[in-house]
Amino acid sequence: MSTPLRVNMAVEGPEVSRLAYGVWRILKDPEGAGVQRVLSKIQTCLDCGITTFDHADVYGGYRGEEAFGAALRAHPGLRQRMELVTKCGIMLVDPARPRNRLKHYDYSRQHLLESVECSLRNLATDHVDVLLLHRPSPLLDPDEVAEALRLLVDQGKVLHVGVSNFTPAQVDMLASRLPMPLVTHQVELHPLRLEPFLDGTLDQCLRRRISPMAWSPLAGGRLMSGQGEAEARVRAVLLELGRKYGAELDQLLYAWLLRHPSRIIPILGTNRLERITSAARALTLQLEVQDWFAVWSASTGTEVP
Ligand SMILES: NC(=O)c1ccc[n+]([C@@H]2O[C@H](COP(=O)([O-])OP(=O)(O)OC[C@H]3O[C@@H](n4cnc5c(N)ncnc54)[C@H](OP(=O)(O)O)[C@@H]3O)[C@@H](O)[C@H]2O)c1
Repeated sequence: MSTPLRVNMAVEGPEVSRLAYGVWRILKDPEGAGVQRVLSKIQTCLDCGITTFDHADVYGGYRGEEAFGAALRAHPGLRQRMELVTKCGIMLVDPARPRNRLKHYDYSRQHLLESVECSLRNLATDHVDVLLLHRPSPLLDPDEVAEALRLLVDQGKVLHVGVSNFTPAQVDMLASRLPMPLVTHQVELHPLRLEPFLDGTLDQCLRRRISPMAWSPLAGGRLMSGQGEAEARVRAVLLELGRKYGAELDQLLYAWLLRHPSRIIPILGTNRLERITSAARALTLQLEVQDWFAVWSASTGTEVP
């Protein structure tokens, strides 16, 4: 049984691809981030059904969206074949933002409106499909955020909104004040980060019927080459499963996330075209329950209670 290529993020959410592509590392690509290279990545994704692209204003030192947008400017027809997710709220110390004296968060109405304008300009689009609040802030005023998001949605600049890296209590608090539903919660999720399975994050997604997005599904590559004990244990189990399923380690890690009933959307971070193409095979892998728990137990170093 295969996992469907597409999923509704939420009951009132957008339809997106079941695997998304993340643009965080776009400027670290050894082959560069020129228009042709970015176009080749976009095309590779679209060819294998990956139509959802995950951005943030801060990626690439505030230059990631622009590099992607340059490719869309060169081929404007591509925009209607994809869904764009972007984020706001993190304020980095960077030459592009000389007013930031230290790293902090800003969810003021003014910043939210300015940040979205900037993302739209950089991405060469008139709307983003989903805007995420990147990280929770102790100073986030839910009524002020609600007002800004309502304006952005009314103006058609943002179609849907979600959060990232929130606690379940913070999600509930914000949702209680927003005039629109939250459509996703993007969290770090992989076998070396099991907390969202245990702390109520994924239960809340199930209860709210929203698909979580999993960032760093390969633990940023650590699961492939990291030397820690848990990494080595998980890798050993994956190598065994690789022989059983005839699959690569990365495909198994995506399939491990896809197996969860909350309909997790793994976000690919690779810069390599052949790895994007091969990732799509994860949708055809259905891990047996005991194999899923073998990965879990390898991570914790013990059998489940
Ligand atoms: N919301 C948040 O706070 C947040 C935080 C971080 C990331 N994100 C999102 O999540 C996306 C993915 O994160 P990530 O880049 O850390 O994902 P990842 O898939 O866990 O890590 C990708 C890294 O692993 C390396 N890698 C090593 N072996 C690989 C293999 N066999 N297959 C694929 N990759 C392999 C890649 O190198 P190669 O390029 O050489 O393949 C790349 O450097 C980001 O682009 C961003 O959109 C969100």
